[in-house]
Amino acid sequence: MRAIGITLLLLASAATVSSQNYPAGDDTYEYGGAQLTPLQKEGRNTWYFWTGGGEKFWRQVARITHGITDLLQYVDSRRRPQRFRTMGVLNDPDCTAATKPDEYGLWMDVCKEVNIPGIPSKSSGTVGLRKFNNPKFDKFTWDVNKYIADPASVEPPYLIGMTCGFCHIGMDPLNPPKDPENPRWHNFASAIGNQYFKEGTLFSLKLNPKDFRWHVADRQPPGTSDTSRFATDHIFNPNAINSIVHLAHRPSHPEKMADGSTRPVHHILKDGADSIGTAGASLRVYVNIGMCSDYWTTLHDPIRGTKMEQKPFRIDLARKDCPDWSATEARMEGAEAFLKTILPARLKDAPAAQKYLSRDAEQLRRGATVFAEQCARCHSSKQPPAEMVDETARTEWFRKAVQQSDFLDNNFLSNDRRYPVSEIGTNIGRALATNAIQGHVWSEFSSQTYKDLPAAGELKGLHNPVKPTSPISFQPPAGGRGYYRVPTLAGIWATAPYFHNNALGIFNGDPSLEGRLAAFDDAMVKLLWPEKRLGVQSMWMTSEDSELPQESGYRLKIRKGTPVNLIANINAPELQLLRNDNFFTRFIGWLIGRGRLYNTLLRRNLSPDFVVDRGHTFGSELPDADKRALIEYVRTF
Ligand code: HEC
Ligand code: HEC
Repeated sequence: MRAIGITLLLLASAATVSSQNYPAGDDTYEYGGAQLTPLQKEGRNTWYFWTGGGEKFWRQVARITHGITDLLQYVDSRRRPQRFRTMGVLNDPDCTAATKPDEYGLWMDVCKEVNIPGIPSKSSGTVGLRKFNNPKFDKFTWDVNKYIADPASVEPPYLIGMTCGFCHIGMDPLNPPKDPENPRWHNFASAIGNQYFKEGTLFSLKLNPKDFRWHVADRQPPGTSDTSRFATDHIFNPNAINSIVHLAHRPSHPEKMADGSTRPVHHILKDGADSIGTAGASLRVYVNIGMCSDYWTTLHDPIRGTKMEQKPFRIDLARKDCPDWSATEARMEGAEAFLKTILPARLKDAPAAQKYLSRDAEQLRRGATVFAEQCARCHSSKQPPAEMVDETARTEWFRKAVQQSDFLDNNFLSNDRRYPVSEIGTNIGRALATNAIQGHVWSEFSSQTYKDLPAAGELKGLHNPVKPTSPISFQPPAGGRGYYRVPTLAGIWATAPYFHNNALGIFNGDPSLEGRLAAFDDAMVKLLWPEKRLGVQSMWMTSEDSELPQESGYRLKIRKGTPVNLIANINAPELQLLRNDNFFTRFIGWLIGRGRLYNTLLRRNLSPDFVVDRGHTFGSELPDADKRALIEYVRTF
């Protein structure tokens, strides 16, 4: 049953306790948890190693982008010594760097044979990226130099697919490796979300600062993914890979489905758009990372998004015609069972925890009370009875609840409700994503209740980067958009920076306990003292003059110091003019290069909100001592 490789590794591994509360000693401890049932183990293998057939899609992406995004070149073994530092990805502990190119001239990590039951791929050397033989490979036409110059020119020997773990597995905050470039399996946490992942590096392999797209990639905060990149919504809205914890205690809400029935569902995703159940949400992610691409890519124009309007992905057709869908669907029960075992990392479980936690009982009590009064109505899954409607009574209920010694146990620390952006006040970019609305690609994955949401309130006073003296007003549309779901605060000490875009607080790239706490302190101070935030300085700007190549080959000039979202949030098909190389386009390009057309671009902007660390000022009016007490209390989550 058990794989030999894993057993051997286990013998070599230290008997440390991981943050996820899995004692050492089980044969599967090395891969994210011991004492799992067979179903949970299968789910763990799915989470870590199953690609759902997406490798075909990634090959297509390499062709379309001519290697700007190519997973095969991304896993080049010569990057291994600094993969974590430069790309934020995790080296597979079962592999080592290549000392020479392989028989095809490719530099591939050298990996131990590890047989994982039911998993058809091998490690690529990077955690979450799996290697397959390419059935279209022909060794007689193969030419490695031709391939490196343009992956569209010849079929490579391998395909590389992506697993859920690629983004979701991160360094274990309670047991980080001494050298982040040389981790062991027990240094990973299965679903904390990789806060260090620099997705921009994956989407700019061949670009340099002369290309505007390089700036977009460069400005993307670490730890985020722009999950609406392929079926594009024409908004640059990268969002944090959040931790998945306490799934068993996450609240659900009754929502109306497309067929008129009502079901209790979680509000999955930052905007709560995935709302037909966890398995449905997870299957959708598989499609988003490549599954059923033969079908999926007929529904939209991947990456560019200019050639056609999106059409809804039909679950019944996928189930009928796409074998990867059915094979993956059959694994979802296990995946969900595995995810349900995952608990947050608690600082109290750290070695020498007392060093990091306040021992001032009075301060902690005060912090808990402040939390009860200011935060718990949103950030707790333990809520007063629904019949209790009076706000004062509800706050009193929270004041008592937080003093219970088990308040934090099994508490998802979120009510999992959606709130309008006008109430939360954070940057609107992610809340404006369109893919789940009626008629768009993911509409079968959002509930009717989501689609019936009323418009959020009008936003006033947004910073205008073109003319700062004329603040922008913006009315978010109805139909599901304009909301943020309350995120969990469980284990939050380990996952700064904050907000849906990871834009609040410093990124120090340091996965050690001290490094995580330094980021936590910075982000919490900025959360509660908004005057210490970057504000207008937080805008993502280009750092050099650059050009944006159009499909026609024409290159649009963009000045240094331009907010990237001034260009990256434009509905490309609507700006037909910029697609063809003619006198008019050149004239427009010249005007943009001179900064003349920025007003027009602003009017066309799908998300005219440029300051990325604003909003969520709850608690900012408190006395300083209360804020300090609150921070000490939040550290214990
Ligand atoms: C390229 C990076 C990436 C990969 C690969 C990835 N995810 Fe995620 N995942 C994210 C990001 C980013 C978020 C937050 C998205 C949001 O909320 O809008 C997320 C969030 C989630 C959530 C939780 C959202 C919540 O409400 O708490 C689930 C569940 C999830 N992903 C499942 C999966 C599954 C299943 C796979 C594999 C099929 C997967 N993810 C692969 C980036 C990734
Ligand atoms: C009205 C509901 C509400 C209240 C009250 C509230 N929050 Fe939040 N909180 C949210 C929402 C929604 C977000 C997500 C905002 C975003 O990402 O744009 C959030 C995000 C956060 C985050 C960032 C989480 C992450 O992973 O990025 C922290 C930390 C946080 N809140 C702490 C607090 C504290 C402390 C209080 C009390 C002083 C509080 N919140 C009060 C709704 C609320």
